[in-house]
Amino acid sequence: MNRRIVIVGFMGSGKTTLAEALGRKLGCDVTDLDSFITEGEGRSPAEIIAQAGEPEFREVETVALRDVLENNKAQVIALGGGAWANEANRALVAAHGCLSVWLDTPFELCWERIASSETVRPLAPDRVTAEKLYHDRKESYRLSERQMKVSSEDSPNALVEKILNR
Ligand code: S3P
Repeated sequence: MNRRIVIVGFMGSGKTTLAEALGRKLGCDVTDLDSFITEGEGRSPAEIIAQAGEPEFREVETVALRDVLENNKAQVIALGGGAWANEANRALVAAHGCLSVWLDTPFELCWERIASSETVRPLAPDRVTAEKLYHDRKESYRLSERQMKVSSEDSPNALVEKILNR
């Protein structure tokens, strides 16, 4: 594989799970940007947003993404749900020649996962807020190079095969 893969998509779309499955299949390193931030900052994205606000988190996120792209050998990178909405981040991914893949997961499925997950997501505190953000962000997700429609029937391994077959 000569291009790194960057997985983008809404909260609960399955980015981290797919990235891990892809890493297992390809036998390569995987980096989850939210986990990278948590390790580097000593606090999770949710904690940074709660304590310092979203604008500050977005700055931290861009610095972390640049760091991963420049210094990290991971072939597969899963972004946080809002990272792709930031033009500076899209430019960084393009400048590093990565292949961006959008997990286009229906809102219902994302919401089901958000609502039942233990991960705190301050930007999706309730269904109405989350659904509005989902629709607002669609335009930016469409700017990714590849789109993968996801349904509740698709296992992570089936999605891996879909990506690799293309
Ligand atoms: C965010 C998504 C989260 C995390 C932060 C902000 C967003 O990541 O980066 O809470 O703006 O959509 P996940 O997409 O992994 O939940």
